[in-house]
Amino acid sequence: MSSQDIPEENLPAAQDTAHGALGVADEKNPFADPGLPPHEHRVQDIDERAAKRSERTVALLFTVSMLATIGFIASFVAIPIDKVVYVFPLGHIGALNLALGVTLGIALFTIGAGAVHWGRTLMSDEELTDERHPIEASPEVRTKVMDDFRQGAKESAIGRRKLIRNTMFGALTLVPLSGVVLLRDLGPLPEDKLRHTAWSRGKLLINQNTNEPMRPSDIITGSLTFAQPEGLDPHDHGFNNEIAKAALMIVRIQPDEIKDKRALEWSHEGILAYSKICTHVGCPISLYEQQTHHALCPCHQSTFDLSDGAKVIFGPAGHALPQLRIGVNDEGYLEALGDFDEPVGPAFWERG
Ligand code: FES
Repeated sequence: MSSQDIPEENLPAAQDTAHGALGVADEKNPFADPGLPPHEHRVQDIDERAAKRSERTVALLFTVSMLATIGFIASFVAIPIDKVVYVFPLGHIGALNLALGVTLGIALFTIGAGAVHWGRTLMSDEELTDERHPIEASPEVRTKVMDDFRQGAKESAIGRRKLIRNTMFGALTLVPLSGVVLLRDLGPLPEDKLRHTAWSRGKLLINQNTNEPMRPSDIITGSLTFAQPEGLDPHDHGFNNEIAKAALMIVRIQPDEIKDKRALEWSHEGILAYSKICTHVGCPISLYEQQTHHALCPCHQSTFDLSDGAKVIFGPAGHALPQLRIGVNDEGYLEALGDFDEPVGPAFWERG
């Protein structure tokens, strides 16, 4: 209800609302609600040609958005990542980044601009008074909300103005494709790279501290030694991933204290080689408790019993540490007898 509907002499006595009494604010009634101002019709409300012009403008903006999204995808496919262009005043910048930024910006901006223009010029702009009501929605209120929603849909003319509706759906359907295309930047699938490491039969175990091949006598009971395969230079960045994947923990345990039969068979006289990569989320394990033979991951405290096949005895890791089968070559050095027989680290999706 607006103040226009109330005779002026009745204003002070007008009904109370949740906001205060409807009427003119004065000393007696400082919070009086003056009501809504008279509604002013827009040119589009009274001139169908102006409404048509607005409709075409909105459709044009949505169409531009569609074209910009297509341009975004085309740029992503066609422009080499290393192509550089000169743009004043920015200087030399990547052509791909420039094209993606400009096209995505236009696509999003024109959808927003189209929606705003549609709302400002064509959707109903009748002022409404919405009285306060209890927060809990009653069935009647829910019914009213649905009725209002349907009324709003009707007044937005989405059914009647098919050009706007179709171009809007087209723009909204295409714009998410930009995100799908960007998934390509996640790189190629790992395929079976996670299943294999740099270990193979005959590769020597190299002490990561001394960078020397190891003999069984170098491994003292109770100590924890880290090793990597021969042929990987830690100073060569190209090998860093390979070194990380293949990193080993070497411990020596009295054979009669090794509970797991396979772990004993894969050891050399009680020298056991396990992957150093935690099977939870891949932290390097670095703590070893010699009395209990427990290895502890510092990240989330997963604990592995190295005397029992490196089974998890505590913490969030869901899988024992993979063991590398080792032996000794003719020259007395410790060597691998093959690769790990399962993926190292938290590569659960690779385990069959
Ligand atoms: S990464 Fe080792 S416990 Fe989480």
